[in-house]
Amino acid sequence: MSGGTDSGGTDIERARKTAEGLAHSPGFGNEHSSEAVAGALPVGRNSPQRAPLGLYAEQLSGTAFTEPRAHNRRSWLYRIRPSAAHPPFVRVAGGALRGAPFTECAPDPNRLRWDPLPEPAPGTDFLAGLWTLGGNGDPARREGMAIHLYAANAPMTDRVFSDSDGELLIVPERGGLLLCTEFGRLRAEPGHVALVPRGVRFRVEPLDPEVRGYVCENHGRPFTLPDLGPIGANGLANPRDFLAPVAAYEDVEGPVEVVNKFCGELWSATYDHSPLDVVAWHGNHVPYVYDLRRFNVLGTISYDHPDPSIFTVLTSPSDTPGLANVDFVVFAPRWLVGEDTFRPPYFHRNVMSEYMGLIEGAYDAKRAGAGGFVPGGGSLHNMMSAHGPDRETFERASAAELAPHKVDDGLAFMFETRWPVAATRQALEADHLQQGYDDVWRGLERHFR
Ligand SMILES: [Fe+2]
Repeated sequence: MSGGTDSGGTDIERARKTAEGLAHSPGFGNEHSSEAVAGALPVGRNSPQRAPLGLYAEQLSGTAFTEPRAHNRRSWLYRIRPSAAHPPFVRVAGGALRGAPFTECAPDPNRLRWDPLPEPAPGTDFLAGLWTLGGNGDPARREGMAIHLYAANAPMTDRVFSDSDGELLIVPERGGLLLCTEFGRLRAEPGHVALVPRGVRFRVEPLDPEVRGYVCENHGRPFTLPDLGPIGANGLANPRDFLAPVAAYEDVEGPVEVVNKFCGELWSATYDHSPLDVVAWHGNHVPYVYDLRRFNVLGTISYDHPDPSIFTVLTSPSDTPGLANVDFVVFAPRWLVGEDTFRPPYFHRNVMSEYMGLIEGAYDAKRAGAGGFVPGGGSLHNMMSAHGPDRETFERASAAELAPHKVDDGLAFMFETRWPVAATRQALEADHLQQGYDDVWRGLERHFR
């Protein structure tokens, strides 16, 4: 499934050059507008009798036409050829990509942890390098989510991907990515996240010889910034730090494969031109990149620490207020100052299910290093599974002198979802599934007296 170009310096150099000095349109949820050619964007109307410059007008809806204005997502695209001009889509093999329903294996109540994915074969592009760990819900009902990892070493060449099943939150862990989308180009390095809305076509080009990371596929309502309540008007992820691209188009004739994930399966159609041919656009259903280091971390300045929901970057709400379909949560560098407080994450059992990954360094509740919780690896703590700090961490934190302490040696994240995550067969049978993860809680001694 690889694009077939060599993955040597030439492709990477070209991608890096393209990724240099990209312009952006900032602000999460804004009514963005952009034109790559002056005069390409109609003024005062969306669908003039003849669109400027001979372009075709096309609306891309991310929510139902009639959803409340506060939730409504749509964009207008002005393109060289309409997306409708394509031959039939045909089913293609999905490689290690899996989709709902996640019924291969019974959902497992055990705590599970994986090492990083093995090295991909030469010539593996982002799409071919997607490997599904598990998920829940049903994209046909627009609820639930899937957890994928990727490992790639080649650009997507003459093919693009779009996901009808949901938006994609891409979390690079190793190597940078250039995302060439219908809306323009974005660069995502480790420490950034990229959000590609449902249905948006895009191509991924590595900016380094090997790229690796995580993907949350959100089948539910689009990710949005959490409400702040008593926090006030500012804090957590600030809207202006989300960067949308500016319009950049390809006027390329010749076959380009469009791979569409639809109800869990991959379908392919070959266009006779690049579908990244959008010369101008406006709207709020747009891709973003966000630097997690911009996250304004809030926490206690007295005692205890808030639930990890205080670290929510983006949330996909459900129909029940406060209950997320999935949250994206980051554990970024922060000061710990709580008095008479067990400072690492506490022991708990959660009705929500938690998948954690590590972008760099270590996580303050788990031992780092080989066989531990390592960058590129991940852990799954399913609904009601008991978890918390490992024995070493508990003993250390219980005895620590509670001087102000900065946790600044890692960047971890969590996909937290309302339903149990059913792991795929390949995840449960993988060589890189760690054996004996339960042992990290072994030897927690009895201190009762
Ligand atoms: Fe937890």
